[in-house]
Amino acid sequence: MAPTMFAGEFVLLLLSGLGCAGIVTGPVPLVVWHGMGDSCCNPLSMGFIKKMVEKKIPGIYVLSLEIGNSLIEDMENSFFMNVNDQVKLVCDVLAKDPRLQGGYNAMGFSQGGQFLRAVAQRCPAPPMLNLVSVGGQHQGVYGFPHCPGESSHICDWIRKMLDIGAYTEAVQKRLVQAQYWHDPLKEDEYRKNSLFLADINQEQGLNETYKKNLMSLKKFVMVKFLNDTMVDPPVSEWFGYYRSGQAKETIPLKETPLYTEDRLGLKVMDQAGKLVFLAAAGDHLQISEDWFYKNILPFLQ
Ligand SMILES: *[C@@H]1O[C@H](CO)[C@@H](O)[C@H](O)[C@H]1NC(C)=O
Ligand SMILES: *[C@@H]1O[C@H](CO)[C@@H](O)[C@H](O)[C@H]1NC(C)=O
Repeated sequence: MAPTMFAGEFVLLLLSGLGCAGIVTGPVPLVVWHGMGDSCCNPLSMGFIKKMVEKKIPGIYVLSLEIGNSLIEDMENSFFMNVNDQVKLVCDVLAKDPRLQGGYNAMGFSQGGQFLRAVAQRCPAPPMLNLVSVGGQHQGVYGFPHCPGESSHICDWIRKMLDIGAYTEAVQKRLVQAQYWHDPLKEDEYRKNSLFLADINQEQGLNETYKKNLMSLKKFVMVKFLNDTMVDPPVSEWFGYYRSGQAKETIPLKETPLYTEDRLGLKVMDQAGKLVFLAAAGDHLQISEDWFYKNILPFLQ
């Protein structure tokens, strides 16, 4: 088998050298980014997802991202590592992986959804084809009403930090969740001090590269959970948010300035049929195998 394998890799490198994205035969690879408090390879979460995909798409290469050198580090980094550094690290990993050079699909769970969008916007090579965001918070959060079971003590601590001052430099630099904390009563502070989300959402200026790169996705799929008790407000999973200045009424993406002014290319993408809004019954990240196969799998093929 060894000579065949080498030949395959050689063809792949040759094609990527010629810049022929998409010509490589075989299934499109998949890159997965886990959520808060999770890790790349938990057999009950990302490990399970990987298995499901491999079962349905034989021969697919699935890369479940590990941020750090161990599962523990990976989990800790989902709370404490600067998100911009995480995105940079992932961009490096993707750029160096010979199996991804013809392009890949990406699927992010919860905060992994907005992190992979940052990868799409900042790192166009290798090209991301479809982006599937499963419960990602694209306009941020203004609360964590519930937290994943095992990390509830960490969540209490996170809430305390965010209360003390989500937009202080000390908290921004140390706490991942502060970097996508979006206080609708303090939009100015958010715009000025958010290290991550305000940047990728074009709140700190207009980066045409972000727009161009995001628009080159084939599909941007956003899954929202109809009974989400972890994310406040759940409509952030469809890129909507609280109307500025209060925290009761929410507006859909289409009514946000980001869309109407088309600062990120989302309006153009929408009109081209590239935005897909999916609704899943149930709480945060609670999807059944059947629902996954029926609704998500088509975007991974
Ligand atoms: C826009 O984003 C690209 C990609 O991350 C970056 O290289 C560039 O410096 C950014 N430009 C500005 C003006 O921030
Ligand atoms: C939503 O959650 C509530 C409270 O846990 C529950 O009573 C209700 O049946 C759930 N609805 C759906 C559609 O899952």
